[in-house]
Amino acid sequence: MITNVLEQPVRTAALEAPSVCRLLDWYDRHRRDLPWRAAPGETPDPYVVWLSEIILQQTTVSTAKPYFESLLALWPRVEDLAAADPDRVLHAWQGLGYYARARNLLKCARIVSEDLGGRFPDNERELQRLPGIGPYTAAAIASIAFGQKTVPVDGNVVRVLARLYALGEPLPGARRRIEGLARGLASSVRPGDFAQALMDLGAGVCTPRKPACGACPWRSACAGRCAPEAYPVKGRTRTKPTRRGVAFWAEDGNGAVLLRKRAEEGLLGGMMEFPSTDWRQAPWTDRQARAFAPVPAAWRRLPGVVRHTFTHFHLELAVLAGKAGASCGEGGPPDGIWCSVERFPEHPLPTLMKKVAAHALKHLNERE
Ligand code: ADE
Repeated sequence: MITNVLEQPVRTAALEAPSVCRLLDWYDRHRRDLPWRAAPGETPDPYVVWLSEIILQQTTVSTAKPYFESLLALWPRVEDLAAADPDRVLHAWQGLGYYARARNLLKCARIVSEDLGGRFPDNERELQRLPGIGPYTAAAIASIAFGQKTVPVDGNVVRVLARLYALGEPLPGARRRIEGLARGLASSVRPGDFAQALMDLGAGVCTPRKPACGACPWRSACAGRCAPEAYPVKGRTRTKPTRRGVAFWAEDGNGAVLLRKRAEEGLLGGMMEFPSTDWRQAPWTDRQARAFAPVPAAWRRLPGVVRHTFTHFHLELAVLAGKAGASCGEGGPPDGIWCSVERFPEHPLPTLMKKVAAHALKHLNERE
């Protein structure tokens, strides 16, 4: 039995069943024009669908668009991407965050190109065996690229279904139930358009705040329409911890700055960074931080901190700036390079490190 937020049985008699045709008709009139979408009547290209879905993981549609266009221009076919230099891929991904996605993008392209004859699998089970493809992405590719009867369930679809059925059970526990409801709704008529219609409905009509219920093709089927903002019911959210670190802005005699490559695996793996201490909960004194200095210098702490939020924690980085002694000039320390500020764009610098650079340059220029 379906219950609403007050744990009352929903009086489904007054409601119509959600109609696939009605949603598809609405989609035909209101679909978003997105660069990765096949035009009506056109056959979708699985490479294009896959590329867009990987970019869209944890990224908004507006941020995804220019990245999608530039990645597709650089590597128009899966074979082109498979042959790409890993640093170029990371560089093209710069600013999108979650860099493991870029590394998996390349791994997956290589498998498809070299082991699967350039063809993506057409079903969720095999798609999920590929790097970087989880249940959501597999369902999105299977439905959009291959017309399989399945519905990808992301935050937008969770919200649409939680409202449609006025689900009283809080998230994240309700997720399985919602996935079951999505399976029940899945359409064998135009499955890819059905999936994309749900995405568009969640993004443009059934929005988190002030949903446009008057414009919704499913309004007469929606059990939550009297109080849509009450759904989905949220469980207690955990607050993110804050970690703290100190980054070193080390300049050589020519004003070049020390960059080093992060370990391939883990957070920001393979990207460039300004050397730093570990990131921990307790604040660092300058004396503690200096034990991590990449080169000897007279370090000075710049005012303020750089703030950045990752999926699981907030980060506050203080910056120590210093001029490295002449003995460090030749080629830099073993795992670093000296790089002029003008040449930073040649390296894959994640957004966090760009913030560190802006912070350092602002304070150092003020001082001059
Ligand atoms: N979010 C994830 N996949 C999407 C898609 N194909 N279109 C629009 N938004 C999306």
